[in-house]
Amino acid sequence: MGCSEQTIDRRLNGNNIRGGKHQVQTRVKLVGGPIETYAYDSGLYLYDKRIWKKDPAGANSRWTTNTLKAVSETEDLYIFWKAGEYEVNRARLTESEWREWGYRQVWDIQSVRKNDDHEAKFPEELVRRVVKLFSDRGDIVLDPFLGSGTTAVAAVKEDRRYIGIEKEEQYVELSKQNVRETCLQTVLFTDSEPVKTVCPHSAIQQFA
Ligand SMILES: C[S@@+](CC[C@H](N)C(=O)[O-])C[C@H]1O[C@@H](n2cnc3c(N)ncnc32)[C@H](O)[C@@H]1O
Repeated sequence: MGCSEQTIDRRLNGNNIRGGKHQVQTRVKLVGGPIETYAYDSGLYLYDKRIWKKDPAGANSRWTTNTLKAVSETEDLYIFWKAGEYEVNRARLTESEWREWGYRQVWDIQSVRKNDDHEAKFPEELVRRVVKLFSDRGDIVLDPFLGSGTTAVAAVKEDRRYIGIEKEEQYVELSKQNVRETCLQTVLFTDSEPVKTVCPHSAIQQFA
């Protein structure tokens, strides 16, 4: 018929899978609804949503040559809160940070160019914004999918503590290395007295 089994499956059965016959295929699904339901069942409500506008993903663009699908170029960030009182601390961001991204829903941030030591790194700026907006100095930031340690690095740089969980041993080591280098740089390049000589009370743990 001149088309892949996947195309036949989609046309006959409505089975919407992105990819081709030579590649691993993933079904295209909306995740917001199920995530909101899981969160609500766990006592968390959806407070806000931001959109990371990243580079068009080259890995997906090859599938657009003979389909009408768009190249993937955004990621959603869902912000869930516990019910109860909270303090709105405007001092977390500077005036220009509020103007440039604090109030803005779409965050235009370049993707990581070099994924040579981990295949799916977040840009540090993306994590930094989340850490600054939703935590105070000294707070603990938890990342249960730590990868190369970007969250821990951003947390250290913004004077937060962190807990990171990662299942792959080589990424645990990579994270620790990246945090160590960050702590060293912080001490070496601060223009006043070093404020962060160690990264206190923080942990990266492997759970296989
Ligand atoms: C998208 S990557 C995170 C990348 C990270 N944000 C960074 O900037 O490097 C997801 C990570 O979660 C890890 N992972 C997946 N399932 C896991 C699990 N059940 N427990 C712990 N880590 C897991 C993977 O090994 C991978 O390194």
